[in-house]
Amino acid sequence: MARRPLIAGNWKMYLTTAKAVELAEAVAASCAGLSDREVMIAPSFTALTAVAEAVAGSPVRVAGQNVAWEKEGAYTGEISPVMLQDAGAGMVILGHSERRHIFAEDNAMVNRRLLCALQFELTPILCVGETLAEREQGNTFKVVEKQLSQGVQGVAGEQMKQVVIAYEPVWAIGTGKTATKEQAQEVHGSIRNVLAGLYEKTLADEIRILYGGSVKPDNVDSLMAQPDIDGALVGGAALKFESFDRIIHFS
Ligand code: 13P
Repeated sequence: MARRPLIAGNWKMYLTTAKAVELAEAVAASCAGLSDREVMIAPSFTALTAVAEAVAGSPVRVAGQNVAWEKEGAYTGEISPVMLQDAGAGMVILGHSERRHIFAEDNAMVNRRLLCALQFELTPILCVGETLAEREQGNTFKVVEKQLSQGVQGVAGEQMKQVVIAYEPVWAIGTGKTATKEQAQEVHGSIRNVLAGLYEKTLADEIRILYGGSVKPDNVDSLMAQPDIDGALVGGAALKFESFDRIIHFS
């Protein structure tokens, strides 16, 4: 089954509203008529509404960078799935390594967020990935499998079809040190095997697995040529129109 590639830009804690809208408009214009791939951008929460308006009518999808695990309540600092929907987001990034490592989010917390996102019909992008120390100790597959299986715990097969996985080796994020296409493919293949074990092979074959970690215009084509790499989650290079545009139009 053919998986439609997804090129996703994670703007992290960059770009105030005016700049975010300017970039979003340029991306939307460049994506007009694009139908063989999907494009998503994740601005900061404060720019979400304006960015969603800027790309309305284009194929560009908008995502939050995290979501709370309740619809509403006394959760100072959190954003609920209903609020994301209200702001115009249809997707959400979950378990990003910066959330895990700087803000101490664990697999159980990420799982609660994911279940809540699905309940409110947001498409989750579940991020997994090992640190350099974990890779050097030979624990890459173990770490990724645990993040994956605990992250999707309680998700039924039918719902799992909507979930997107992003493999982002922590040592490749923001470092300019991309995983080689072989290293990335090896982990993507193992993620698909884990999904086939948790669900069914036919389902695993439908799930998109993105690669993230220093994706740039000069490495996107070779990464995207790998059989189990179905898209990219782009940080730094998504903040500049020229580089993100080249990545969107990978060949
Ligand atoms: P960079 O592309 O800047 O390495 O960031 C990757 C990332 O964290 C995307 O979520």
